[in-house]
Amino acid sequence: MLDDPGRQRSPWLADYRAQLRINEIGKLVSIGDGIARIEGLPSAAMDEILRFEDGSEALVFDLGSRSIGAILLNQKERLAAGASAQLTGRRLDIGVGDAFLGRVVDPLGHPLDGASAPQFSRRRALEVASPPITARDFVERPLLSGNKMLDTMIPIGKGQRQLIIGDVGTGKSSLALDTLIAQKGRDVLCVYVLISQKRSAVVATLETLRQASVLDITCIVVAEAATTPGLKFLAPFAGCALAEEWMWAGRDVLVVYDDLTTHARAYRELSLLLRRPPGREAYPGDIFYLHSRLLERSTCLSTVHGGGSMTALPIVETEQGEISAYIPTNLISITDGQIYLDPALYARGFLPAIDITRSVSRIGGKAQVPAIKAEAARMKLDYLQFLELEVFTRFGSRLEASVEAKIRRGRLLRELLKQDRLSPLTAEQHMAWLVAYSEGLFDGLEGGAVQARLAGLLKKAAADGPGVGIASGREAWRDAVAGWSRELDEESR
Ligand SMILES: Nc1ncnc2c1ncn2[C@@H]1O[C@H](COP(=O)(O)OP(=O)(O)OP(=O)(O)O)[C@@H](O)[C@H]1O
Ligand SMILES: [Mg+2]
Repeated sequence: MLDDPGRQRSPWLADYRAQLRINEIGKLVSIGDGIARIEGLPSAAMDEILRFEDGSEALVFDLGSRSIGAILLNQKERLAAGASAQLTGRRLDIGVGDAFLGRVVDPLGHPLDGASAPQFSRRRALEVASPPITARDFVERPLLSGNKMLDTMIPIGKGQRQLIIGDVGTGKSSLALDTLIAQKGRDVLCVYVLISQKRSAVVATLETLRQASVLDITCIVVAEAATTPGLKFLAPFAGCALAEEWMWAGRDVLVVYDDLTTHARAYRELSLLLRRPPGREAYPGDIFYLHSRLLERSTCLSTVHGGGSMTALPIVETEQGEISAYIPTNLISITDGQIYLDPALYARGFLPAIDITRSVSRIGGKAQVPAIKAEAARMKLDYLQFLELEVFTRFGSRLEASVEAKIRRGRLLRELLKQDRLSPLTAEQHMAWLVAYSEGLFDGLEGGAVQARLAGLLKKAAADGPGVGIASGREAWRDAVAGWSRELDEESR
């Protein structure tokens, strides 16, 4: 039949040549601390997935001349030295898409919340090149954090990478969570990556998000403290891949990496276990590259590419306020600005403990809401002058009347800038307190009275939906705020 001239021979059959196919079979020589060493796989490539005979899988992470090192991704109970291993030719990827919203998953996409596995139709590689410059656009749209200090003085734009830096327990995670919660109803999706945190902290975060009803716009990626360093290392890349899918689909995404200090430690542990040469502070030499290739993937895409954005809030912990340590300096130079949380301010009860003099947003100013930007300029100057002048008050010296007035206004500002957790402000509410401050409507009030007036104003600004809007002129705002203030005076009488 094959010789029938009227029939076309199948091209596959025509090209078929009998050949030898070489399949490398490796042998597991040692296993421990989540790391496997395998011999006999000379054509293994970095980041390729290996499969052991019992179904366990590992990620090639170190290529030696005689053996290779791999991070165990899932380990079946019977895996032991001597097991055979084969290359799969696959790269590490994770399921992505809307099915992950409201879910808690590990860095491989497996559910940790006890529900069934998310159903997805697309997968994304954990490691991909960052979007090319030609696909990017300027950061021009604001990402409101709802925080008084951030939105007025250290604004964040969509697609920006803003570092949250501070000592242990200074409110870093709280600030990131507050920013995430402020995205409710703003058409922003969120990814919260928790690296090496205790289960109690993970549960508390989950509960906070649930109570603020933002779980349905959030995906939580968790590598707990008790997991292998390999999974901790992969966690931010998994979170980034999930966010990237939405960004390329034209959505705005906010990703929080909590925190990259523990991530760096996990990477250091992996590298030392694989006997790579240690560098500064015993971290491997390519740790800068590791974090920069992660954060470079956050950007704002041009409209041709859908106009999506990925804003990143990496968190880094300092020791005794030492921001010039290796990992913090790396991250400061990779990101577009930093928010510094000061333990001294925290101890004095100024919360959130943002030290404005050491915080900066290098690109967010362009993206700030114009009305807030114009109104906040004067306030920022007042506050910075006050911080300089305040030093003189310590000597108990007699001050000029003008200096005293500035200090009084500064103290008032400090009171106004305090903000409780889980109380994000809208753009209109920011305008209300800023205008009230510039118009002197808080003057003469002290401590509790300032807070009461502020709370009253914010409430009225939230309720007055159809009245003044963020686009209203300065005069309209001045009249509205003065009106609210009079109402508050009457109510308190
Ligand atoms: N604005 C705030 N108002 C009141 N309490 C706050 C505020 N911000 C943070 N806190 C409190 O400060 C404590 C430490 O906060 P948080 O856990 O966010 O700090 P952290 O820097 O992330 O700590 P760690 O270094 O342990 O991760 C928490 O008990 C939190 O409730
Ligand atoms: Mg924290």
